[in-house]
Amino acid sequence: MSRYDVRKAVIPAAGLGTRFLPATKASPKEMLPLVDKPLIQYAVEEAVASGIEDIIIITGRGKRAIEDHFDRSVELEENLKGNGKAQLLSQMRHISTLANFCYVRQSEALGLGHAVLCAQRLIGDEPFAVILGDEIIDAPVAGLAQLIHAYKKRHGAILGVQEVPRHDVSRYGIVAPRTLSAGLHRVEGLIEKPAPADAPSNLAVIGRYVLPPDIFSILRKTRPGKNGEIQLTDALVELAKKSPMFALEIQGQRYDAGDKLGFLIATVEFALKNPSLGPEFNEYLQNRMWPSGERRKKMAVKT
Ligand code: UTP
Repeated sequence: MSRYDVRKAVIPAAGLGTRFLPATKASPKEMLPLVDKPLIQYAVEEAVASGIEDIIIITGRGKRAIEDHFDRSVELEENLKGNGKAQLLSQMRHISTLANFCYVRQSEALGLGHAVLCAQRLIGDEPFAVILGDEIIDAPVAGLAQLIHAYKKRHGAILGVQEVPRHDVSRYGIVAPRTLSAGLHRVEGLIEKPAPADAPSNLAVIGRYVLPPDIFSILRKTRPGKNGEIQLTDALVELAKKSPMFALEIQGQRYDAGDKLGFLIATVEFALKNPSLGPEFNEYLQNRMWPSGERRKKMAVKT
């Protein structure tokens, strides 16, 4: 094993999900389904497709459903077996075998930086990935795999970025880039949620990181910043002063499913792509947009 192998990923899932209240009052945002799969399963599958073996999920109060989801459900399995639903049974069993899962509780939602710091003991002294499960990346090559590939060549922290419209920069961490080659930049600076006039570029950090373990000692010293939270961005700014940091433009379609509109868009796109639902859903949408008497009535009866 080389010291640049990335085997562990942290998925912070202890946030309060206030943008989805009241749905997230007692249920985790990470368990909201995109069609039939919870958001966090997409993140786990991306990690596994990127060669990750150990997944550390940062949880908090009210997040038990996440642990249950990645565990076996013996009663459900018995039921599916008894009813001859072999395919569904093997799909359910597969979920618990996707990776080695560990859970760390963040006892208070003190910010993303603090959530990552909670994984320090389990990560130890090796590079690791961070995936924010509410950013969904639909790509032929897993988003995180693209970053890990670049990390193995560059050996410095790598942030996944994509271009966003200028008027949206204030929703993201934005990098000040020095372009090295197509899609790869040296990070000269980083600013969290800037006003469009202050943004050094329109390259936004999109919830995928490969970080060296040095980030932990910086996070320990990071004071609460915006919203009184310990911000990962503030620690990254410090890290970039000490060692080279890069930004890679991730190839793929990204959905901000942590936001209601983004979640709805992702739901529509994944439903349209779903082989068993897509054609009928597409027909429904066509009729919804361009109603033509008879066709519309037919769909209304079906749904
Ligand atoms: P977000 O700000 O997108 O998620 O944090 P949130 O706080 O759950 O949602 P809103 O903004 O209130 O609607 C990005 C990620 O960091 C995690 C969240 O679970 C999310 O996956 N997070 C955030 C933590 O694990 N702990 C925290 O203290 C804050």
